[in-house]
Amino acid sequence: MKFTRCKSLRGEITVPGDKSISHRSVMFGSIAKGTTEIRNYLQGADCLSTIACFRSMGVEIENHGEVVTVRGKGMRGLRKPDAVLDCGNSGTTTRLISGILAAQDFEATLTGDASIQKRPTKRIIEPLSLMGADIRSIPGNGCAPLKIRGQKLHGISYVSPVASAQVKSAILLAGLYAGGETRVTEPYLSRNHSEILLRCFGADVRTELEDAGASSRATAVIRPAAELYGSRVDVPGDISSAAFFICAALMLPGSEVLIRNVGTNPTRAGILKAARAMGGDITLYNERTDSGEPAADLLVKSSALHGTVIEGADIPTLIDELPAIAAMACFAEGETVIRDAAELKVKESNRIAVMAENLTAMGADVTETDDGLIIRGGKPLHGAVIDSHMDHRIAMTFAAAALCAEGETEILGAECVNISYPEFYRDLEKLKTF
Ligand code: S3P
Repeated sequence: MKFTRCKSLRGEITVPGDKSISHRSVMFGSIAKGTTEIRNYLQGADCLSTIACFRSMGVEIENHGEVVTVRGKGMRGLRKPDAVLDCGNSGTTTRLISGILAAQDFEATLTGDASIQKRPTKRIIEPLSLMGADIRSIPGNGCAPLKIRGQKLHGISYVSPVASAQVKSAILLAGLYAGGETRVTEPYLSRNHSEILLRCFGADVRTELEDAGASSRATAVIRPAAELYGSRVDVPGDISSAAFFICAALMLPGSEVLIRNVGTNPTRAGILKAARAMGGDITLYNERTDSGEPAADLLVKSSALHGTVIEGADIPTLIDELPAIAAMACFAEGETVIRDAAELKVKESNRIAVMAENLTAMGADVTETDDGLIIRGGKPLHGAVIDSHMDHRIAMTFAAAALCAEGETEILGAECVNISYPEFYRDLEKLKTF
């Protein structure tokens, strides 16, 4: 797909539902008693993989687009799937479902696409095994396909080396079925959608924050549940999808974009803090809370940007937005340093390497480090051939960057945006002025 420069972005859009919350609403609804009605469920391929997995374990799920209805089977009502569970490109499906499968009274195998089969699952195999789970990587390399034979589990107190909501959530879901309390401590608080939504479904889960000097460790604590109960879930728009419009509008002179109904949970809203630290003009309107999740309308105006340092506890709050932020940093004056972000290497692609490769191809002054990127802004970008590596966030980042670059940019594998934002190019087109 080819992109050229535009003058500015102007107008109003609504981004699709949050990917993380969509996955969780179907998962929790499936193991709850009664009906769960989900509004604004993300119709991206990843979230459709989650629906398909639970359907193949006997859960009736009606997907009408605007509303998804899940007829929950209760904590013990899933049945052995008739085939291998296919998680597609979705790390969230793979890891969270493993926590549930670890406690069932059947055996299941799960797998995914080529990217999923390279992504680490040892990070869940280890803690789930400590809980008594029988889970192994079939190729023996710590990656999917995984074989999981359900077992009786017991609670653990686990200190995770990484701030990962997928790891935390897999353990919490297993903890719902375990004997005794389960505790997961992470170096920094990762997105807490599981904790918020599980509480809506009746689970006993809480967060303990330690804020002692340099440490900001967070511990999620869950008690076993006899049952969860179906709930209505209103999924806010995904701030990770909004990120491409936020960054593009900030860097393109004369832009003004209103993005309606964006989730602003503080564990996800790091992009707002980082963009403002760079001089970005973003105003929140209509702030509200739905299904325990804060949301607002964001008005974004193009701004004179300057470099910043992004690190530490802020990293998990903007981990998926770092590609878009790195592209934006090319249009900021001075240096932007992103560090403590080694997790970027194990996303849908190695996002440190892929960002460095593609930004360099467009003429940016960028250095790849062990745990991030250093971008010296101010060098004009020019069009290039961009390899998305079939990573949806890379494709969208460069479609946004291309709007501010001289000449033509071609994105290879551009269709991979269907993972999280099938209508992305249409929405981008709507906002362009020439
Ligand atoms: C997600 C957690 C994050 C994020 C991913 C979605 C989730 O991954 O990058 O896109 O829904 O829990 P990690 O938990 O690996 O950091």
